[in-house]
Amino acid sequence: MDRKIFRKKSINELLEITEDKNGLKRVLGTPALLLMGIGAIIGAGIFILTGIASAFYAGPAIIISFLIAGVACLFTALCYAEFASMIPIAGSAYTYSYVTLGELLAWIIGWDLILEYLVIVATVAVGWSGYIVNIFTSLGLILPAQLINPPGVEGGLINIPAVLIIVSITWLLIRGVKQSSQVNTVIVIIKLSVILLFISIGVNYINPANYHPFLPYGWSGVFKGAAIIFFAYIGFDAITTAAEEVKDPKKTFPIAILGSLLISSILYIAVSGVLDGVLPYYMFKETAAPVAFALNQLGIHWADIVISIGALCGITSVLLVSFFGQSRVFFAMSRDGLLPEFFSRLHKDFRTPTNGIIIVGIFASILAAFLPITELAELVNIGTLAAFIIVSAAIIILRKQKPELKRPFKTPLVPVIPILAIVFCFFLVTQLPSITHIRFILWLIIGLFIYYFYGRKNSLLSGNK
Ligand code: ALA
Repeated sequence: MDRKIFRKKSINELLEITEDKNGLKRVLGTPALLLMGIGAIIGAGIFILTGIASAFYAGPAIIISFLIAGVACLFTALCYAEFASMIPIAGSAYTYSYVTLGELLAWIIGWDLILEYLVIVATVAVGWSGYIVNIFTSLGLILPAQLINPPGVEGGLINIPAVLIIVSITWLLIRGVKQSSQVNTVIVIIKLSVILLFISIGVNYINPANYHPFLPYGWSGVFKGAAIIFFAYIGFDAITTAAEEVKDPKKTFPIAILGSLLISSILYIAVSGVLDGVLPYYMFKETAAPVAFALNQLGIHWADIVISIGALCGITSVLLVSFFGQSRVFFAMSRDGLLPEFFSRLHKDFRTPTNGIIIVGIFASILAAFLPITELAELVNIGTLAAFIIVSAAIIILRKQKPELKRPFKTPLVPVIPILAIVFCFFLVTQLPSITHIRFILWLIIGLFIYYFYGRKNSLLSGNK
């Protein structure tokens, strides 16, 4: 057996790097990080996928789907909180696995995160397109169906608005426009206000008859629905990439991770409960913008436009954070020698990793132009669920390997909670369609080839550099 694949990074060396006085500034406190979490979590999931998941999978029982996916995330979040407070270093799950499980698994996680963030960018861009088209339609401007849908959906050929938003974000990121904490706060406030506005208006129009039948597709529909809307919770893991910019990571991380997850869960359950109370679940088959659609059907057109604009803001912030996350993972892996130096090369004026950003922009645009949102979301979910499973397993392993490490936040009831996280996440993986499993396995095989022929030899830990 090739021992190289198990070589690990040393936690102490990593921690020394972050204590470097020239490193990133620790400016983020608990409220800012909590808002960052909400900024990264609430987006296309609630504003778009709720409608699809309820119309085609779960019906009004979508509330239970949200609960199941939320519980899976809660168990995983407890594991993430232990890692984030113990190893507060950029790179998130990729770094955690590099110190615990060795290089091969770290590579697999990194490769997996590339898929996750790349496809999130594409998925969220398709959602963005749905809402902008909705705004145009509300203003009486009907765009040609061929240019706003992927092939196979309503006579579509290509989703141009989705490509345009990706190109704009690519350009912004190259220019190094940093999503400052203040900008994020404003976006999060708009997004939360819009959601609360929807709940407070919609609750008055609930017709209890719409909750019957509650389980039109049976329990299997509820589980499949959970595997899809799991997408809505993704993002609490993304804040751990800001580890080197957080003031008191030991205290801040557990509160921000668990707090943002809890707030999002409550809002999700409330929104989906109201949506399916206001209209019969099957009506959401016709729309890519269910929250605005519901208000439109109720004849409240002003709120429809306000909500669409709020949704666009929210979705854009998720787009920015995911694209940032993607460039960071590329950057970290390339800095470690697992990917060519080309990806971490900084632009001489903008100081941004331009090459990686452009490549992600091109691939995400192609995916967003030609694939429907559900298939994209399923691919994101399988990638993220795989990362969650490995992180939860790593908690158990590190407790055995290095019991002496200081753990400012301890996951309660180890190994029960990590095992529950693994079981729940694995269960959700089984609920995804086989085509998604096949696509994911193909992605992993390609990744293993790259590691075998490139990363293994060029890794900084190989001593060849
Ligand atoms: N949770 C994020 C969203 O729903 C990915 O857009």
